[in-house]
Amino acid sequence: MKIDLARRNPIPRLARARVLWPLNEGEQVHDSDQHYLGAHIDADTESDRLQLLEGCRDPGTIRRLDRLGVSRGWRCLEVGAGHGSIARWLAERVGPTGSVVAADLDPRFLTDMPAGVDVRRLDIRHDDLEADSYDLVHCRALLMHLPDPIAALARMVAALRPGGLLLAEEGDYGLWSYGGHADAQQLNTLITRMLTRLAEAKIANPWFGRRLPDLTLASGLELRGSEVETRVVRPGEADYEFEWASLLATVPAMIKLGIYGEADANLIRALSGHLNSVITTVSIVAVWGQKPS
Ligand SMILES: C[S@@+](CC[C@H](N)C(=O)[O-])C[C@H]1O[C@@H](n2cnc3c(N)ncnc32)[C@H](O)[C@@H]1O
Repeated sequence: MKIDLARRNPIPRLARARVLWPLNEGEQVHDSDQHYLGAHIDADTESDRLQLLEGCRDPGTIRRLDRLGVSRGWRCLEVGAGHGSIARWLAERVGPTGSVVAADLDPRFLTDMPAGVDVRRLDIRHDDLEADSYDLVHCRALLMHLPDPIAALARMVAALRPGGLLLAEEGDYGLWSYGGHADAQQLNTLITRMLTRLAEAKIANPWFGRRLPDLTLASGLELRGSEVETRVVRPGEADYEFEWASLLATVPAMIKLGIYGEADANLIRALSGHLNSVITTVSIVAVWGQKPS
């Protein structure tokens, strides 16, 4: 039997992301904010999701920052600071003789920061930073959301003082997989298609993590180390809840983009409560490098 490929894929191909992010009437979103998917999630949901992310990934990040020797007096920059947990940890670690800049395109969750943390609205796609200034620059799950991660990386490297350290930690969905339910394969196919469409529309690169070692080298840094973190998780574990929080929170945006239809949204909602399931999470590729003195 001949398979009609056109009929097997009823979702239209995406046009450019800019065209597909219509603002609702009266919505006050800065034009350049629109690119980031999280900007289309309501504030309470996004706040919860970012805190879940911190709960899952902070232990690994802090272990790496500790290993890099972050200590009293260091000048640190956190780009895409999210809900601010790492900026808070850095402030505590560097003490009153150090300084921390917590920068984000959308700094609405960077509240109640300790004294000495300078919260900045910054768009790393366009805004320059102080040259040769920081002992440490850190980002996590940021570059994968940018249309030109190489330019953003170059800005962060330029902000490092000679001898300064960059720790970049980015996601890679290469191993992502859901199992434990009869419809698991249907969900995996849907998620792969969704990630592919986001990549095609240049909204995000879900497989960016694997590029990080090479891009760090190409940025002129001396590569000092790297790690990849993936987990296999069950309901009730923080990573499992984060994966589902992200899938559910982005359903309205995916419908708006034409990536999900109603049946897809229903499948996601139905499987989200299933208790006998297992997820292999997004991997975090962490790379650290040093600016030559
Ligand atoms: C997935 S969240 C990660 C938050 C935090 N780094 C973490 O791992 O907990 C991505 C963050 O990057 C920020 N972001 C996205 N595009 C940005 C840009 N162009 N410049 C600066 N920050 C940006 C978002 O507002 C969001 O806070």
